[in-house]
Amino acid sequence: MKQQLERLKEEALKELAAIDTGPALESLRIRFLGKKGEITAILKQMGSLSAEERPVIGGIANEIRARLEDMIAKKAEEIETRNMSLRLVEEALDVTIPGRQFSIGRRHPMTVVLDEAKDIFIGMGFDIAEGPEVELSVYDFDRLNIPATHPAREWTDTFYTKEDGSVHLRCQTSPVQVRVMEVQKPPIRIISPGRVYRKDEVDSSHSPMFHQIEGLVVDKGVTMGDLKGTLNLLVRKLYGENTKTRFRPHHFPFTEPSCEVDVLCVVCGGVGCRTCKQSGWLELLGSGVVHPKVLAGCGIDPDIYSGFAFGIGLDRMTMLRYGIDDLRLLFENDLRFLQQF
Ligand code: DAH
Repeated sequence: MKQQLERLKEEALKELAAIDTGPALESLRIRFLGKKGEITAILKQMGSLSAEERPVIGGIANEIRARLEDMIAKKAEEIETRNMSLRLVEEALDVTIPGRQFSIGRRHPMTVVLDEAKDIFIGMGFDIAEGPEVELSVYDFDRLNIPATHPAREWTDTFYTKEDGSVHLRCQTSPVQVRVMEVQKPPIRIISPGRVYRKDEVDSSHSPMFHQIEGLVVDKGVTMGDLKGTLNLLVRKLYGENTKTRFRPHHFPFTEPSCEVDVLCVVCGGVGCRTCKQSGWLELLGSGVVHPKVLAGCGIDPDIYSGFAFGIGLDRMTMLRYGIDDLRLLFENDLRFLQQF
């Protein structure tokens, strides 16, 4: 029995030396020292020994068990220490490594200019109104005093969505004026930015879809002077204090008098260039004093109230702002272009 114990001890120590993981160490402990372990099994046979042998063998067995327990505990500590330093190496952070580069998106140049324009108008007490892009022809034409014979109403110019010509993709943001006046009584001060559609061939200054910012002010005693003041302020805030404007007489069915507003070409300073088609001026918007028929059609008494309205080409306004000479650049989503803003 003594030899058996010695042999088990040698075997256990030898195996122990080769172990380097926690689970392997635990199964070794169970195999030798567990309740059903090999050393325990030998101790259980002690009953068959003589009274003299028993304390001797018992002493040896306990010594071996104590020795093994001690060795196993040391080994466990060793493994734990090694695991810990391995983990420290693995999890070490190199704070000198450069961070990952995220490329952050940015606003489209047209959004930048629209946001600026909104701020300027909000600063002057305007609200922002919205209207549908698929519009009733009644709102986009009839209620704006545009006669049935007007060329803008031709099927070759407008995207109708109904055979009978009663619905189409709006060709201007002006119908929002009517929608606002229908539900709101003066004082009214709104702008309404949005998309508009016309059957135009794509070129450097035309697109079948483009953007306008509609404006409408209605109150007692509103004059052409208010219109000029408001639009001059907008232009100067957008393009700089010294920007020159020109109010040129024009005709719109829904305003009387009407004018178009040009800005001195920001590219050539008025000398004449490709952008301004050698004229020295760039057309920015249409505007005028709201026609009494339009007011009356919305239930606003033109003898008491008057107003002015305007429709700004947002695309044009953006091109002017950044000296962009081709409208298509605004719609192609070419990152090489967009990243410049
Ligand atoms: N709707 C006009 C256009 O698309 C622009 C315009 C002119 C709007 C005069 C107005 C206005 O509100 O009063 O050409």
